[in-house]
Amino acid sequence: MKPVKVGICGLGTVGGGTFNVLQRNAEEISRRAGREIEVAQIATRSPKPQFETTGIAITNDVFAVATNPDIDIVIELVGGYTVARELVLKAIENGKHVVTANKALIAVHGNEIFAKAREKGVIVAFEAAVAGGIPVIKAIREGLSANRINWVAGIINGTGNFILTEMREKGRTFDDVLAEAQALGYAEADPTFDVEGIDAAHKLTILASIAFGVPLQFDKAYTEGITKLTTADVNYAEALGYRIKHLGVARSTPAGIELRVHPTLIPADRLIANVNGVMNAVMVNGDAAGSTLFYGAGAGMEPTASSVIADLVDVVRAMTSDPENRVPHLAFQPDSLSAHPILPIEACESAYYLRIQAQDHPGVLAQVASILSERGINIESIMQKEVEEQNGQVPMILLTHRVLEQHINDAIRALEALQGVVGPVVRIRVEHLN
Ligand code: HSE
Repeated sequence: MKPVKVGICGLGTVGGGTFNVLQRNAEEISRRAGREIEVAQIATRSPKPQFETTGIAITNDVFAVATNPDIDIVIELVGGYTVARELVLKAIENGKHVVTANKALIAVHGNEIFAKAREKGVIVAFEAAVAGGIPVIKAIREGLSANRINWVAGIINGTGNFILTEMREKGRTFDDVLAEAQALGYAEADPTFDVEGIDAAHKLTILASIAFGVPLQFDKAYTEGITKLTTADVNYAEALGYRIKHLGVARSTPAGIELRVHPTLIPADRLIANVNGVMNAVMVNGDAAGSTLFYGAGAGMEPTASSVIADLVDVVRAMTSDPENRVPHLAFQPDSLSAHPILPIEACESAYYLRIQAQDHPGVLAQVASILSERGINIESIMQKEVEEQNGQVPMILLTHRVLEQHINDAIRALEALQGVVGPVVRIRVEHLN
């Protein structure tokens, strides 16, 4: 059988990794795919002498790949929303299957892209868009297809996890660790995407769609970054038996779907609380399988290439099949997607860690307790630290039971208005994941 011809658009970290692994493991890969996979064209903006590309057509125009009649599959690795969207739509229009690692593209324009792909009978595969080398898309879309999925929770940004880990374990500064993550090629072109939770929200949006069978709705995801976390809260969390992780949580409730990324206290004895460095992990809770955990490298050259090539193999195996009988892009048949709404953050439910800086006066604790109890907020535990020498204040740390976010916000407003409370109350969500 003649080889499948592939065009790689973008020869950066992931493109380079894909090229290398395709060459190195060519035989193993074609034994799996059933056909040889030939890189027939590469679009790159600058020459890359480190890659042996003799015999491969090189262009600086990605659209030349999308319109090349010899190319069967376009691998989109240019990133971003704009050119990538045009490129993918052009490739689809030209009847090509697409493999992409672009989470932003899928989260923001996926509905449009999948509709177009369906119209043209082509596949758009995106395993590498979520959690790098972990085959979690395939696991949820295929391996867990018997389940009603209750929730998904994941550490899905390697850069953020690397920063939190280094800060906690080595006391390094935020900026110092971020610079290292950038040098290692983990961070996004705009690192605020990593530290403000946007990158994680892109990935969570995709996970929620394939877990619950809803359209992609990135614009409704709630994001809160890790830039305001203090060492004091990291240490208090430790003292209470928790780790702080930047967690993406998607939960299906009768009222709607929670879709949120924020710093989160997780009990330190959970496996996921011990996922450190650039590693990612995704927990999926289904009614039949119970909790499952998928762990691995969430970023980097070859881990991400591993997922790109797995998609490539899937496409090669399925490209001659009837388009109506393939695995649906979003796991559920496109006509069966549900309109279950995404909940605003005020309607989401969580337990909370609160740190209140109180003046060392009698009665403050009683006032705090009454504000919480008036709003039906149940205190799980309370820890009062010694008076801080520099300001005479007492940090008061409370853990609550689960409560609606709007009730905790209301309580925080009342707490901050108390005379005995100094400055803003620190609020971090807590998830027990059990
Ligand atoms: N910037 C991302 C991360 C890369 O740090 O996880 C992988 O998507």
